[in-house]
Amino acid sequence: MIHSIDYGRRQFLQYSAFGAAAAMIPELLLANPKSASSVPTPGFKPDVEIEFSAREVLVPILNNGAETRVQKYFAKLLKGPENTVQSFEDSYLGPALSFVKGQKVRIYFYNNLYEPSIVHWHGMHVPQKSDGHPMYSIEPGERFVYEFEVLNNAGSSFYHSHAHNLTGPQVYFGLAGLLKVTDENEKALGLPDGEYDRPLVIQDKQFNRNGQLQYVRGMRDRMIGFLGDTILVNGKPNAEFSVKTRAYRFRVLNGSNSRIYKLGWDDGTPLTAIGSAVSLLEKPETRPYIMLGPSERYDLWLDFSGRPVGSKLVLYSLPFSGTMPPMFERMQRMRGGGMGMMGGGLAQGEKFPIAIFNITEKVGDSPELPARLASLKKLSESDVDNADNPLPIAITERHMRPLVNGRPFSLDEVMEIEKVKLGSIKKIKIFHPHEAHQEQGASEQSHDMEGMGHGGGRGGMGMRGDRGGGMGMMGGMMMAMAHPIHLHGQQFQVLSRKEGHVDRQDYETVRHGFIDVGWKDTVLVMPGEEIEIIKPFQDFKGLFLYHCHNLEHEDLGMMRNFYVH
Ligand code: C2O
Ligand code: CU
Ligand code: CU
Repeated sequence: MIHSIDYGRRQFLQYSAFGAAAAMIPELLLANPKSASSVPTPGFKPDVEIEFSAREVLVPILNNGAETRVQKYFAKLLKGPENTVQSFEDSYLGPALSFVKGQKVRIYFYNNLYEPSIVHWHGMHVPQKSDGHPMYSIEPGERFVYEFEVLNNAGSSFYHSHAHNLTGPQVYFGLAGLLKVTDENEKALGLPDGEYDRPLVIQDKQFNRNGQLQYVRGMRDRMIGFLGDTILVNGKPNAEFSVKTRAYRFRVLNGSNSRIYKLGWDDGTPLTAIGSAVSLLEKPETRPYIMLGPSERYDLWLDFSGRPVGSKLVLYSLPFSGTMPPMFERMQRMRGGGMGMMGGGLAQGEKFPIAIFNITEKVGDSPELPARLASLKKLSESDVDNADNPLPIAITERHMRPLVNGRPFSLDEVMEIEKVKLGSIKKIKIFHPHEAHQEQGASEQSHDMEGMGHGGGRGGMGMRGDRGGGMGMMGGMMMAMAHPIHLHGQQFQVLSRKEGHVDRQDYETVRHGFIDVGWKDTVLVMPGEEIEIIKPFQDFKGLFLYHCHNLEHEDLGMMRNFYVH
């Protein structure tokens, strides 16, 4: 399977590393990044060694005898505890990896695909060289060696392809998996483990009549993000779990390219999260429903004790609105869910079942939900060195392409506002600049952006003029969508979420589902919202991406680098 990749452009970008852009960050460009990473470092003594590879295979996904061509990760444990690698045998999902805080990990990644690829350990705080930045994409037949110490606390992360320009298709065709970290604190809590600690990876796919995966069908899928009509859980349709009358930990991961889920029980029972993305929460958080943007994870405490044997519960994605440009939502509604062209389809925000939980066995006791789970240092404005001058992540748009900070992605070029001193803790403001000037004022705006770093008025970028003004038919469309904004490197905390110029009724359908506490690596930004986060940039120098985790947006260039120096 060869995805559309523009090799010419790729070559150009590679060479540009040694050209014009080099002047901006010379330290990184002394050696070819790839050759530096194809051999293990002699001084690094791994506790865990894994041989990792990606290749195309046929797997049965639909229960109709058809085999579907996918791209799949395989792992072989060379050294370390046996439970480090747990394979999903007849699924396209990569094996679940389990690491222990403090372990030194070395992973040999072999690209056995027919196209370039690289793996990113989303959520893990690792050195630049082991972060799977697209600049490290390796060619078919090549090897890349990752080495890192597990610095993360207990939590659930998400590894996936981050191939340059190919992240969307490669994740869609299967290159993704769950990564768990455990630590001493977690062990002492006695949380459900073994068969009571289960993955729940949610993805949406589209199959053709031959049972083969269909990816984007045109520019609209790319601009809005790909939405499939078949919901898969752990790689299978019509998911059902048999559970006992006790508490479970389900690690829910939204591994979809662009679909947002609003998790909720059919009978209105609230949901309790014990972990958010990269770590356990300080204490359990209960919500009537939980919003889950692409790449977000929540570890849920699902307690079936007291439920009669023979009964069942259905986990739904409940209806919501306001995450898509208004004209698309109107179209969706008119077509009764169809996104056009193909007919049928499953609209963003439509209600559908995710998984059925059948209560099949009565057991005597169940673990207690701990009142406190972890002690987290809560960061506040007094921890940052730029309280009045937050780093901007502006959600912008140019020529119908979604961007961050007004500039398209470049592998290695950084603006002044993207340079961050190692060890600093920064306030970052994610916001929508004034919509009306988006399309026509794009060049003017990016000019502003460059000026900003040179002492220009940082905070004021794009905020001039009246807010929420006349948004054209197409101009500003991306500003009228929800974007899951993800930052590589160290995790962050949400400081504030201010609802912006949004439709009240729409916002009511999502507002109680955000869990803005604890450490996160992705935050779902609703149209018009302004979200302030606090992020430490400690331990590692280098280039760390920030981008929209709507993977079609990412591939369109809604991604930039922070340069930690
Ligand atoms: Cu999961 Cu850069 O992404
Ligand atoms: Cu990431
Ligand atoms: Cu986006």
